[in-house]
This record gives sequence, C-alpha cells and structure tokens, in this order.
Amino acid sequence: MCGIIGCIGSNTNLISKVIEGLECLEYRGYDSSGIAFIKNHQIQAVKAVGRISDLKQKLNFEIDSSLVIGHTRWATHGKVSLENCHPHFSKENRIALVHNGVIENFKNLRIELQAQGYDFYSETDSEVIANLIDYYSQKYDHLKAVELGCSRLEGSYALAIIFKDDDRLYFAKKDAPLILGKSENFNFIVSDIVAASSFSNEIIAIDDHQYGYLSQDKIAIYQNGKSISKQFVKCKIQNDQRSKGLFDHYMEKEIQEQPSVIRRLINHYVKDDKFSFGPYFLKKLRGANRIYIVACGTSYHAGLVGKYYFETLAKKETEVCIASEFSYHLPLVSERPFFLLISQSGETADLRKALKKIQELKAPVYTMTNVVTSSLAQQADGYLDLMAGPEIAVASTKAYTAQVTLLALLAHALNDDSQTIKEKFQSVIATEEKILSKPNIFKDIVTQKIAFSRSCFYIGRNLDYLLAQEAALKMKEISYIQTEGFAGGELKHGTIALIEKGVPVIALISQDHIEEATRVNIEEVKSRGATVITIARQSVAKKEDDIIIPEHDPLLSPLVFAIVVQYFAYYAALINKRDIDKPRNLAKSVTVE
Ligand code: AGP
Ligand code: GLU
Repeated sequence: MCGIIGCIGSNTNLISKVIEGLECLEYRGYDSSGIAFIKNHQIQAVKAVGRISDLKQKLNFEIDSSLVIGHTRWATHGKVSLENCHPHFSKENRIALVHNGVIENFKNLRIELQAQGYDFYSETDSEVIANLIDYYSQKYDHLKAVELGCSRLEGSYALAIIFKDDDRLYFAKKDAPLILGKSENFNFIVSDIVAASSFSNEIIAIDDHQYGYLSQDKIAIYQNGKSISKQFVKCKIQNDQRSKGLFDHYMEKEIQEQPSVIRRLINHYVKDDKFSFGPYFLKKLRGANRIYIVACGTSYHAGLVGKYYFETLAKKETEVCIASEFSYHLPLVSERPFFLLISQSGETADLRKALKKIQELKAPVYTMTNVVTSSLAQQADGYLDLMAGPEIAVASTKAYTAQVTLLALLAHALNDDSQTIKEKFQSVIATEEKILSKPNIFKDIVTQKIAFSRSCFYIGRNLDYLLAQEAALKMKEISYIQTEGFAGGELKHGTIALIEKGVPVIALISQDHIEEATRVNIEEVKSRGATVITIARQSVAKKEDDIIIPEHDPLLSPLVFAIVVQYFAYYAALINKRDIDKPRNLAKSVTVE
C-alpha cells in the first residue's frame, strides 16, 4: 500500500525532494520509511521506524545526490522494524530498491536464490526482488535484469530500483499504482497521483507489466522487451486541493467541501435538465436485468444506498457485494448482468481481484472512482468520475457523498426523471450548508455523551440503517471507540444484551414511515439505561430530539445525515487526541488483499 518514490536529475538536492514526496505519501498510512541514494558510486540508505519526522531527524540534508529513492512501508511481510524497512539491498549492496505490493512466490524464490549463494537479512518479500534482479544482472544488462527479474514475480509490485554503478532510475509495475513525471530539474516516479501533482502536472500513468528507466534527460518505457511510447497527460489536481487550508485536519476540510462536491457533480452530469452520462453507458445499464455493485468499506456502504435507489426509483434489481468475498464466492450471475465497481482510490486490491473474475464472465463492468488515472478506471470498460477532488484523510467523507450523489443521479437517469433533480439537490446543498455552519453543536454532544465511552451504537431503519453502518465505521476507524450500526428492529434479536447504563445509542430518524418504529427502539434502549442521542429530520422530529435537520427530500437524507455522523466521529477522535487523518493500522489506499 503506502508509497514509493524515485527522483533523478541535474538538481543535486534530490534528498529533500524525495522527503517532500514522502510527506505527500504520508496520508496513505505507513509504519516506517526510508531512502537510498547514490553517492560516490556507492548506495547509502537511511531508515526509520515511525513517522517521516523520525526519518528527517536521522538525515543529513547537506548531502548532494542526483539519484534518490524513498519508501513509506505498510508492513505485510515481517514486523515493523529497521531490518524490514525499505529500501532493500541485494548482495554486496549492488542494488537498492523500494517496493509496494506483495510477492506471493517469495518463499520459493528465496530458496532458489539461497542455492545460488544469496543470503537474506530481512523477513520481507521485497528483499527477494533485489537479489533476483542482482542474479540476472550478472549475465544481462540492467534493463534486461529488471525485465527478467520481474517476469519471475507472482503478486503485485511497483518498484523503483537503483544500481550502484548506473546513473539511471529503473522502475516496473504490476497490480500496484505507478506514475511517472517530469519536473523542472528532475524526472520522477511515484506511486500516488496526489504526490505526483505536487511535483508536476505532466504525468504518465504506467500500465501493468511495463518497466523501464529514467535518466536525467530521458524517459524510456518498455513492455515485453519492446520500447513503447506514451504521451504525457495533464494532471488536474491543484495546489489548494492538496493543502489543509484553514483547517487543522484534512478530514474536517473534506467534510466541509461536501456541498461543493454535490454542486460539481450536478453541473457535470445534468445539463439543461438532461442527464449526460453518455448514451452507450446508459444503454448498457438499462439493458441489464440485474446490477451488481462491488465495493469495500465506505464505498460498500454507499453501494447499499445505491441498491435502495436503483430498486425503489428505477425498479432495477441490484445486489451489493463485498469485494473481498466476491472473488471467493461469486453471486449467482443473472442473464444480463451489469457490474459497477465503486472505489474512491481505484486501486483497492480486493476490487482488482474481483474485476479479473468479472472480466472472465465477459460482463460489462464500469468503475465509479475519484481517481480516473487509477488501475480500476483504466481496466474496466469505462469509468464514472466522482469529481470529489483529492481525498487525503484516511476516513472517507466527501467521496461517500460523491458516490451516493452519483448513484442517485444514475437511478433518476434510469427512470428518465430529470425534471426536479436540480431542485432536490439544491435543497440538500442548502441543508448541508446550514449544518456545516454550526459544527460546535456536534462537539458539545460528543463531549458530553460519546467521547469517553468504550462502545457506542448507531440504530436506524430503512435508509437510516444503511447510514448507521457507515456512521459506525467512521466512528471506530478514527476514534477507536467500538461502534456498531444496527437495524433498529434487530436489537431485540441479540444486541440489546449489550445495552447497559450510559452506553451511547445514536438514533437516526429521517424517514416518515419508520419514525414510530425507531422511537419504539429508542424506548427499549432507554429503559435499559442507554444514553440516547436522536438525530431527526424536521418533519418527523420531536422537540426533545438532540439534533433537528432542516427539511429536504428524505430519499437524499443519507447525504445530509452523513455530515452529522462524520462530525461525531471527528470530534470523538479530536477529544481523544487521535491521529485523525492517519488512524492507526489503516491505509488510504488498500492495495494488498
Ligand atoms: C473509509 O473511511 C475507509 N478508510 C475504507 O473503508 C475505504 O472506504 C475502503 O478501503 C475502500 O476504499 P476505496 O473506496 O478506495 O476502494
Ligand atoms: N510487502 C512489502 C513489505 O512488507 C511492501 C509493503 C508495502 O507496500 O509497503 O515490506
């Protein structure tokens, strides 16, 4: 997961550039980091467990080097330790490399290389790649050695490789993101579009099985032993989209951006009261007799709302599948299926595996993503752009809003119902803006009733239940308070046993037809001592409710209520002094299975 970077150029101050790049990669989540550079035809490395700030303390920024690689590691093979930290070296330090991904056949390769006299110092799968390339470089030139080495790897990799007696920066990629770019005084490779955009807006997204090298003035890309040419494309991410602006955390900035995300989507996908999804895409979707949404985490929760929209508005049967389960147990596939992958990052490994399975079925498959250069966007039949702008906080907020908005638009489009769509969303935007202007109300409630509890529950019915699941994920991932989201009616079938004095139970009430039933559930938990917090839409609210949400189309309530539950999670994390944007053990883009 995490990140790799490599810079080469006439600029000799590339250590600080690589550190800048690693800082841009931090948001993806990591546990240790390191760099390697060439100095006097020797490769030197500096590594640190912990934050990039720990690495910086060990570094001498006075050292000049025009060829530097760097890594943020999210350990998959071997504990978090200096030995396992990248860059990894080959025998006699002839090669150093950084690797994102997982090598599935590393044990066999290790045994094979040991028989050839190679020793290993780390527990990682990555170290084997350095020795494998070294092995081939004894007989072949460096480019061929990279090609042959990579041809032996099973699994995923984005690699930046340096050789002590070579002034080129080599790279290779399969099933992990890799972007190449040119800046003023240097060329670079990096595994993340946001980090790439901090260096340059001229980029090339490398495809699977491509490899090559960068020199000071040349970029060479190969596939199957042949040189290929690829055009630079403009990267649209602006400087201000990467910064926190006036906010203390990216998460809060991204929560606040949600009305503008909806506005952007409406302007793009609804023109002159007509949907502009492209006739080909809508025809495919219309022709399907069942839609299969495949996703993970928050994107999966958005998918659940999508199913509700497709089935209630467009009467289109829909199934929502957890991507990590999908590959091991395919659902029964209908006669004319349409697959929709939902992924903020477009790089999630579980989805990439699911995509391969879907492609074997030869069924139409589209990706709904926030990163249009991503693997899932490029490898599916087409993509729908979420247009949320870079989402940096690990906890997804504005991408959820974008996903639910786009799913609602699609369901309306299937139903040929574009007349009132703009008004409906305008009232959502206006309601969101009102809520966003007074976040302190949420802070007070969280301080008094939620932040100091060990566990917490969200309950709701119908659409509120779907949001309750997302609300619980948000709360647990950043505040570390054990939180679950339940269908109100399910409490009595088991969960109510957990309710005791003072446990916060947050009830969501947005829909008219379930109001009474949810209020019955509130009484059930109250009578067992729970501290209940109620969030209700105005027309179903009672004056004693804790938060009353201004009127809007109830079908779109998940968008509006999402803001409240995101802020609840945010303040619970803030009060508990959690690392809000980079919660422990999590990564922004989960590129390993
Ligand atoms: C959301 O807050 C989480 N960090 C996580 O569940 C995320 O939604 C999930 O990993 C899916 O990521 P994707 O949308 O980039 O595929
Ligand atoms: N599998 C490698 C390791 O555990 C790379 C992990 C990563 O992508 O950060 O070191």
